[in-house]
Amino acid sequence: MSTPRHDIADASLAAAGRMRIEWAERSMPVLRSIRERFEINKPFAGIKIAACMHVTTETANLMLALKAGGAEIALCASNPLSTQDDTAAALVHEYGISVFAKHGIDRDGYYDHINAALDIAPSQVFDDGCDLVNTLHTTRKELLPGVRGGCEETTTGVIRLHQMAKDGALTFPMIAINDTDTKHMFDNRYGTGQSTLDAIFRATNTLLAGKVVVVAGYGYCGKGVAERAKGMGADVVVTEIDPTKALDATMQGYRVMPMENAAKIGDVFITVTGNRDVLSHEHFLAMKDGAIMANSGHFDIEIDVKWLEDNATQKNSKIRHQTDEYVMRDGRRLLLIAEGRLANLGAAEGHPAAVMDMSFADQALAAEWLVENADGLGAGVFDVPTEIDKEVARLKLASMGVNIDELTPAQEKYLNSWDHGS
Ligand code: ADE
Repeated sequence: MSTPRHDIADASLAAAGRMRIEWAERSMPVLRSIRERFEINKPFAGIKIAACMHVTTETANLMLALKAGGAEIALCASNPLSTQDDTAAALVHEYGISVFAKHGIDRDGYYDHINAALDIAPSQVFDDGCDLVNTLHTTRKELLPGVRGGCEETTTGVIRLHQMAKDGALTFPMIAINDTDTKHMFDNRYGTGQSTLDAIFRATNTLLAGKVVVVAGYGYCGKGVAERAKGMGADVVVTEIDPTKALDATMQGYRVMPMENAAKIGDVFITVTGNRDVLSHEHFLAMKDGAIMANSGHFDIEIDVKWLEDNATQKNSKIRHQTDEYVMRDGRRLLLIAEGRLANLGAAEGHPAAVMDMSFADQALAAEWLVENADGLGAGVFDVPTEIDKEVARLKLASMGVNIDELTPAQEKYLNSWDHGS
């Protein structure tokens, strides 16, 4: 096996990375069955894929499925803190996949890596947050004619893509993986719910029972975080700007209030809104000594870290794993996890493999569908076909040994008719 183009931190980590990739694979039965089929059918023969995703053991298994299907791949990181250097090393040196990713890389290096991945001249793109697609449409326009389509993984990326499409900027079809039920109802809820708390525990080892946990944003991610925190005995407060979501949180039994009020009572703050300045100076000034802040929204804009950097009298960097302590003028100490970046991937390992199994099965099947269907779609943002979503759910249930009922012919007829009254 020849060594592919790469820029990674440490080749000597490859063997350790391979062991962890294989460990994740054990919990990804749906993706495994797809990989086995791809190995035979080779749906990606002749297809070059540039992927900008979190370089984790779970993503590694997606890349291996695509490679088994005949794709040539260049992978770069979608977040500087989520890169697992051992995974990157294994992909390059054990599996022959081109990777450009180093944990903790600075902004310039991050974009150099996106450009290096784009140098493959992709016909398909995989994005997680839209940075690669954005780069393609701004500084690498010469590659646009060769791109037939792509997939976007996350809520934030899908929002950016809709904006691009609205402005007439997007030049090819992008499939919104996030919008499948088997992605957002599971990955966003159970994945973000568990992995965000995992990050807080690894970083601070705090006890959640009896604490006031403020969850900003009650989308699927917020629901997951709130449910898990409640399950661990926390007193959960939700903040929202959407009246329906706020009502839902209230009915679910959470206290709902503006952040201005929540800031005074929270012990732990978790932002999952997708918007900027959710925690800013007026909140920092009101928070209790020892308050913990973590962001699990895609970008590091939800907590105004710059204000903390500029106004704290002292910063105790990395007083624990991925935890910075900012000392305020009045002596209060505020704790920030993973520099305000995606905490679940910065301070923990992201979602467990069992949940990424579904999200990445959606990715793999949508990419296969694109090979046949991209040219008929035109530019825009498209849903994953419902059959793919249902197929992933069916395969996951089968892997869990769960059986369900089937419609009887009479039930099917009833559902397809309109002439039965009461
Ligand atoms: N997004 C959230 N968790 C992830 C993981 N474990 N791997 C890749 N992307 C992710």
